[in-house]
Amino acid sequence: MNLSQASQQRLELLAQDSLKRVLLPCPLNQRAFDFSSNDYLCLAQRGDIVEAGHECAKKYGAGATGSRLLSGNLDCFEQLESQVAQFKNAEAALVFSSGYQANASGLAALLDKSLWSGVDPLVFTDRLNHASLHHACQLAGVKQIRFRHNDMAHLAELLAKHTESTQPKIIVSETVFGMEGDLLPVEQLAEIALQHKAVVYLDEAHATGVWGPQGRGLGAITDPAIDALKAMGHWVIMGTFSKAVGVSGAYIACSETFKQYLVNRCTGFVYSTAPSPFVIGAVSKALEIIPNLNKERCALHTAAETLRSRVHEQGFDTGLSNTHIVPLVVGSNTACLELKAHLQQAGIRTSAVRPPTVPPNAARVRLALNTGHQQAVYEQLLHALTHWKVSA
Ligand SMILES: Cc1ncc(COP(=O)(O)O)c(C=O)c1O
Repeated sequence: MNLSQASQQRLELLAQDSLKRVLLPCPLNQRAFDFSSNDYLCLAQRGDIVEAGHECAKKYGAGATGSRLLSGNLDCFEQLESQVAQFKNAEAALVFSSGYQANASGLAALLDKSLWSGVDPLVFTDRLNHASLHHACQLAGVKQIRFRHNDMAHLAELLAKHTESTQPKIIVSETVFGMEGDLLPVEQLAEIALQHKAVVYLDEAHATGVWGPQGRGLGAITDPAIDALKAMGHWVIMGTFSKAVGVSGAYIACSETFKQYLVNRCTGFVYSTAPSPFVIGAVSKALEIIPNLNKERCALHTAAETLRSRVHEQGFDTGLSNTHIVPLVVGSNTACLELKAHLQQAGIRTSAVRPPTVPPNAARVRLALNTGHQQAVYEQLLHALTHWKVSA
């Protein structure tokens, strides 16, 4: 069998289970009806952000020309990292070209036993963590000790089983779960981590810009346990510039020493060309703007609450959602594709999220709300949903 035949066979198997993905065009003029985008604050097309990207590219070039350790360490990176550290209330920050890269290589570097004098760390992970976090565990060759989703009592119980162990302990979670749309009880997690002197690695991809004080993420809240963990260098926060920040790329906010360790040992940093200066200029501008968008964030949270209660009235299940991400959990892959197609017919774009992104029988249409959605669009969405329930 040649590669084309093997690929075709695999695609047919995926199609049989309604799991085959296809690339569809995303027309720019339909953004107002788009519930599939992660541009939660509608910054991706903001003129001053695009302009700042251009300005930075004009000054530094379209590309960084190399890894930061070779030819690419332009001063715009250092400036952005100081800005990110301040934004996250952290000692230092390191930027990456994508969130996947930051997690896959940054977390893998944290889990690398050579960092811990050759001792394997014990790694406690939320069951619903993003694929990039799983990938990091695989890369580092660690066996995950998984706790039930957002269940802090279960996490505490699992840690308690290892109190005698001298192995380093590392807890990994998202702060806003991208597919569930629920929030990590961050203070509780910090308290538990502190009791066990564990290192905390949090992924703020969906929180950055939208949650926490002035949109700085949940990792930026003021809390005595978090302060104590920070003092030990045990508070490592990753986040992306690709969602509410409206651009692309990612950061890890941490202690200065851990940053310097990553500069030396994180493969996704060492062996990858630094991000484009356009990205750096645009991100820097977006981070200047984000703290001033409290009114927009409030409106977004209110819209999500209203939408949830209205879809509940129609009999839809929104799972654990309590954020701007509202899944309509329908269960089967076929029902999920049908609902997505039905909404598409009504002019509303959504994402059909199926396994392995979510657990089996938990397929869902994911509604990602943004600050640009108008009341009329919500009405259009709700009207279409009523129709689907009737015809199903
Ligand atoms: C929780 C989480 N982490 C990391 C990523 C990867 O980020 P990026 O799209 O910037 O590679 C995503 C993207 O979907 C995500 O949802």
